[in-house]
Amino acid sequence: MSRHENAPKRVTAPELRARKGGEPIVCLTAYDTPTARILDAHCDLILVGDSLGMVLHGLDSTVGVTLEMMILHGRAVMRGASRALVAVDLPFGSYEASPEQAFESASRVMKETGCQAVKLESGSYAAETIAFLVARGVPVIGHVGVRPQAVHALGGTKARGRNTAEREAVLADARAADEAGAFAIVIEAVAEDLAREVTAAVSCPTIGIGASAACDGQVLVTHDMLGLFDWTPRFVRRYADLSTAIDEAVKAYSEDVRARRFPGEAETYRLKPDGAG
Ligand code: KIV
Repeated sequence: MSRHENAPKRVTAPELRARKGGEPIVCLTAYDTPTARILDAHCDLILVGDSLGMVLHGLDSTVGVTLEMMILHGRAVMRGASRALVAVDLPFGSYEASPEQAFESASRVMKETGCQAVKLESGSYAAETIAFLVARGVPVIGHVGVRPQAVHALGGTKARGRNTAEREAVLADARAADEAGAFAIVIEAVAEDLAREVTAAVSCPTIGIGASAACDGQVLVTHDMLGLFDWTPRFVRRYADLSTAIDEAVKAYSEDVRARRFPGEAETYRLKPDGAG
């Protein structure tokens, strides 16, 4: 019997592509093994997003995230996910210079983590790169609308599509990624009518974050939807208040330690000497 015979069948990129217009694709971010284990039962797609630079490492933007960081967290997520498709973000500076640079980065990420796909922020300049990767066996997810790696060029991360030029740019970026062979496209922070137009214009599924219900699927940053931060963007729904839960737990622990209530009898070893039966 093969070692993997009883393992659940993993979601594939062609299966997700075939979900266009059908059952919505469920995606969340994960950066570590225990979170990936929980998400794996519920998500079709787990994204090791470069948002980890801000969420885990306290950076101001995703610009400082390195390929090594993505590989480290990608490997951790792969240890916890056996069913969902795992996609890892290519970080800023690891793919923009040329299709060849992108292939080197993507193949490193896939070999060293075992993930099934990569995501890259895709202005229309990226079409050549996406086609190059796809032709060489790398499943690619595009990312249009607000592109956080371009924060300095875009002048921030406020919602896109406020004027005709912006709308046309987002639409062109999405069409280019689709025609180049992306199997899905993340649309970040655009108005509903633009998300609907993009979703109708492309043949692959769109996965929205702050892009309305008009998309073929949804993604959120897990730490946001679990309520781990004081502030979250308007498009986030908080499904839990873990920051309060953690605060209360840590407070209770600190009080117990100070009052010598922890550890108690239940948490204390009483070892019988060797040979005492
Ligand atoms: O980096 C990330 O987590 C992302 C999602 C917000 C889509 O790209």
